[in-house]
Amino acid sequence: MEPFDVYPVFDVEIEKGIGCRTYDKLGIEYLDFYGGHAVISVGHSHPFFVQKLKSQAEKLIFYSNTIVNKFQHELAEKLGKISGYEDYALFLVNSGAEANENALKLASFHNGRKKVISFKKSFHGRTSIAARVTDNPKIIAPINEGLEVEFFDLNDIDRVRNSLDKRDVCAVIIEGIQGIGGIQIPDAHFLNQLSDACKATGTVLILDEIQSGYGRSGKFFAHQHAGIRPDLITTAKGMGNGYPIGGVLISPIFKPSHGLLGTTFGGNHLACVAAIAVLDIMKAESLVQNAQKVGKFLVSELKQIPQIKAVRGLGLMIGLEFEEPIKDIRSRLLFEQKIFTGVSGTNIIRLLPPLSLPMGDAKLFIEKLKLVLQHEPADVSNAF
Ligand SMILES: Cc1ncc(COP(=O)(O)O)c(C=O)c1O
Repeated sequence: MEPFDVYPVFDVEIEKGIGCRTYDKLGIEYLDFYGGHAVISVGHSHPFFVQKLKSQAEKLIFYSNTIVNKFQHELAEKLGKISGYEDYALFLVNSGAEANENALKLASFHNGRKKVISFKKSFHGRTSIAARVTDNPKIIAPINEGLEVEFFDLNDIDRVRNSLDKRDVCAVIIEGIQGIGGIQIPDAHFLNQLSDACKATGTVLILDEIQSGYGRSGKFFAHQHAGIRPDLITTAKGMGNGYPIGGVLISPIFKPSHGLLGTTFGGNHLACVAAIAVLDIMKAESLVQNAQKVGKFLVSELKQIPQIKAVRGLGLMIGLEFEEPIKDIRSRLLFEQKIFTGVSGTNIIRLLPPLSLPMGDAKLFIEKLKLVLQHEPADVSNAF
C-alpha cells in the first residue's frame, strides 16, 4: 500500500527539530518560519514538553471519557486563566475541523436554527459542516452541500446585518485572522458591530482561532485585539505543539447535557498533558509577549522591502503579498537559504514561525529574504 497521494510535497525529509530549527536526514539545518502550518508554538521538541509527554506515556496514554480525568480539569483551568475566559467551559477534540464541527452543532442545538453566515476567503476545515462553511468549492463534496450558508465580504457589516435581521441565522463563523485566505485581519470596529448584531438577533458568534489563537497574534486570541467576547471559540494547531488536540471554549449561556457532544479520543490523558505543558511553557517563557515583540519587528522591517507589495499581520502571523507569483521566491528561500515558509494563493507568502522565535532568527530571516529578492536565482531545478 502507498499513502493516498493528496499532498504536493517538497523533496525534503525532516528528521529532527530543536526550537525554531529543523534538520533533514543529511543533517542540513532549516530555519522554521512555517511551524508545520502554525502548529509548533513553544518550539520543536522543547525539553520540558518532551519530558512531560515521556513521563505520562510511561504511566497512561489513554483511557476513555467514562472515567475522571484530572488532566482535563487542569487544562481547562489553566486555559481559562491564561486566555481570560475563566467562566467558559472546555470541550476537547482532536483537530481544528472537529472543533468547528462541534461548535456549529452546539450553536444549532442552542437556538434551533440551521443557516450559517461565513466569509469570503475563509477556511474552517474539511469535515462535513466545517467544509461547507469554507469558501472553497473544491473541498465541498456533493454530500456536504445540504447546509444553507451565506458568504459575505469581510468587514461588510451592512449585508451581514440585513441577513441577521431575518432572525433565522444559527451562527456566524469567522477567523480571528484569516490564514489560508492570505492573512486578512477583520476590522476591530466590524468585529464589535458583528458581536452586537449577533447578540441582538439571537445568533451565535463563533470565533475560529485555530490558526490565529494561542498567542500567535501577540494576544492569546486574535479577537482580543478588538475587545469582543464571542459565544464560542475554537482552537487546535498550537494547542498541542504537534500533539493532536483541539477544543471549543463555550460561554456559560450554553448548558451541557449528557450525550450532547462526545468523542473517543478527544481529551485523552496524553493529549491533555501535552496541552498543559504548552501552556506552562507559554507562561514561563512569556511567549505571547515574545510573539508580539518579534512580530512587530518583523512587520516593520518587511514593510521597508520595496519588492513586497503589502505586509499584513499581527504577532507572528504575517503575510507578504507580492505583485507576481511567489512560487520561485518560496522555493529559493527553502533550497538556497534553508528556510521554511508557508503560502496562500499564488502571490502571498505566509510566516508562521514558533512563538519562541528569537530576535536573532527574525533578523536572519530578513537578511536571507533580501538576498533572495536581490539576487538572481541559483539552480533550484530540484525544487519541486
Ligand atoms: C482557521 C482554520 N480553521 C480550521 C482549520 C482546520 O484544522 P484541522 O486541519 O486541524 O482540521 C484550519 C487548518 O488549517 C484553519 O487554519
